[in-house]
Amino acid sequence: MNILITGGAGYIGSHTCIALLGAGHKVIVADNFYNSAIETIDKIQEVTNKKIIIYKNDITNYFELESIFNENPIDGVIHFAGYKAVDESIKRPLDYYYNNVLSTINIAKICTKYNVKKIVFSSSATVYGNNMPPFVEKMKLQPSINPYGETKVMSERILMDMVNANFTFKVSILRYFNPVGAHESGLIGENPNGKPNNLMPYITQVAKGKLEKLRVFGNDYPTIDGTGVRDYIHVMDLAEGHVAALNNIKQGTNIYNLGTGKGTSVLELVNAFEEANNVKIPYEITSRRPGDIAQAYADPSKANKELKWEAKRDLLSMCRDAWRFEKNNKTL
Ligand code: NAD
Ligand code: UD1
Repeated sequence: MNILITGGAGYIGSHTCIALLGAGHKVIVADNFYNSAIETIDKIQEVTNKKIIIYKNDITNYFELESIFNENPIDGVIHFAGYKAVDESIKRPLDYYYNNVLSTINIAKICTKYNVKKIVFSSSATVYGNNMPPFVEKMKLQPSINPYGETKVMSERILMDMVNANFTFKVSILRYFNPVGAHESGLIGENPNGKPNNLMPYITQVAKGKLEKLRVFGNDYPTIDGTGVRDYIHVMDLAEGHVAALNNIKQGTNIYNLGTGKGTSVLELVNAFEEANNVKIPYEITSRRPGDIAQAYADPSKANKELKWEAKRDLLSMCRDAWRFEKNNKTL
């Protein structure tokens, strides 16, 4: 299939390009490089030895998007493009609503106009808010999580309504848990601008000596060791989940959790990183981060069954691959 990947130069998009090219699909990337570098496209081509068609386009601009559909036959779209930082979304809510919601509306409109029936959308486990884990797709979503989470709930709704108006569409909404790690080549990985907000990139920068020590946000949660528990998933497992989602896409709207189903605490992740890479991660316990929940992990059984997919890589591989990329990353 010819697949348009919006945000294909970003962290998850770039790994998904590798998985799609490996599975024999043709890939067209549209990215405005707001949070990524054009060099990533060269690296994907180097790793796969395959060519990508690339557009430096903004998905919020309908006419820029239309030029891609005019120039290429497209069988399906994976829509990754968007902003993703929760804290930033609280400070700049309108930018988040504009970019994330408008880009989804444009994708829905253009797919309707050009009769492209297959759409896969990047949603987030954030939509479950304070529900009790394991999170199941049919849970009632929590309103007013944070502007970022709201853009995901709204985008899901827009796509569902599009399908309600025309049931021949096939939409898969994927709710990601915590993607970490990097492609095993060490060429492609997560490269956040500035000081990382997320745990794994913070740990790798401490290991590299770029940051002095990790701050563990609270050790008084009702969890195994008091620190926050999350469902970390190797980014290549997540990428392969998109290939499975495309291969098994069904009529209507279908929602899937992409996670491992296993919860890991902050201290367990620190220990796994130290063991996998034989490095020390100095840390101190600080107060809780506002807005954090104690535990979040998936019930991935629907994706396991219907997409015939499951996460295979373990925590040690996630830690090894994240560290290999950090060590190779000359831009830091
Ligand atoms: P990322 O920032 O690395 O990638 C997003 C890409 O989209 C970037 O290359 C950016 O330049 C591009 N982009 C943003 N707005 C655009 C626009 N208007 N037009 C064209 N390109 C645009 O983020 P990621 O981690 O790869 O996340 C991809 C998607 O998955 C996002 O929608 C994000 O909300 C969602 N998601 C991510 C996580 C995570 O932990 N990384 C978790 C859940 C959901
Ligand atoms: C955060 C976002 C979530 C987003 C996800 C992936 C918030 C509230 N949630 O989730 O919407 O989908 O990132 O981008 O921001 N931790 C530390 N020290 C650190 C960093 C994190 O102890 O320096 C802890 C956190 O308290 C948490 C765990 O590590 O318990 C994971 O944090 P993080 O990687 O930021 O992911 P989430 O909080 O799950």
